[in-house]
Amino acid sequence: MSRHFLHLDDFDRATLDHLLQRSLSFKDNPRPSPPPLAGRTLAMLFTQHSTRTRVAFFSAMAQLGGSSIFLAPEHSQLDRGEPIEDTACVLSRFVDAIVLRTSSHEALLRFADAATVPVINGLSAAGHPCQLMADMLTFREHRGPITGCTVAWIGDVSNVCRSYMEAARLWDFELRIATPEELWNPAQATDPRIIWTKDPRQAATGAHLVVTDVWVSMGLEQDALRRRRLLAPYQVTPELMALTHEQEALFMHCLPAHRGEEVSAAVIDGKRSVVWDEAENRLHTQKALLEHLLLA
Ligand code: CP
Ligand code: NVA
Repeated sequence: MSRHFLHLDDFDRATLDHLLQRSLSFKDNPRPSPPPLAGRTLAMLFTQHSTRTRVAFFSAMAQLGGSSIFLAPEHSQLDRGEPIEDTACVLSRFVDAIVLRTSSHEALLRFADAATVPVINGLSAAGHPCQLMADMLTFREHRGPITGCTVAWIGDVSNVCRSYMEAARLWDFELRIATPEELWNPAQATDPRIIWTKDPRQAATGAHLVVTDVWVSMGLEQDALRRRRLLAPYQVTPELMALTHEQEALFMHCLPAHRGEEVSAAVIDGKRSVVWDEAENRLHTQKALLEHLLLA
């Protein structure tokens, strides 16, 4: 079992299910006594913007009795050329765990190799495993086990979508990815549980959960015009939601969202949307993850 959490499948399904169960305990009892992480420190090193990940980890540590420190690249020596491996070695001497958000997955792997404390992927080009923990908990709370269900991913094959591919294999659900051919590389996933289509209607038909993400992820801004043009037919609309299982699929989005682009306001602000529960669950699931990595 990995000492880091860089990919969702670094942990097996039993461990992930246990963490989801622990997340529910933290939801019931947000500030356990005695505080389990008293005296522990988390470093958060982010080279990209964040609202949810950053604040959820900060609050999680505070509510469990620990503390955290946030490092933006312009406030550290990283921007002045200190090797990422050296930063990992030094931070490991000061803190008990590190969350790294960086566009380069390769940099994340190098950082984790050099670190001697647990490293958490706070989002990289290859995935967003912390987001998936929250999404899986949210589905379970609203609908029960996801195994055997159908999830429709509509739009860009983003970092979050890549973690959904891992989740489909772990929890054994069907993942239908609707995306334009220009943004689609079938070699990305050949698992029979993952179905690729150009047609968002085909993906949504009978689905139990519809998920999307921004059309222009951080770092891809130079490709924004092309992406908006290619993805224009992939907005999640009430018409698309009406094709889902008994017309009542849940809608999720990792946020931040762009109403009128990847999702219409009627859907994200509508009654099937669980985006606020999903965002809140970042806090509870990150507590379970921190407890597991720091105390196990
Ligand atoms: N969903 C998510 O990770 O949001 P932030 O970019 O605000 O952290
Ligand atoms: N795919 C988005 C996720 C943000 C949480 C991005 O990388 O910008």
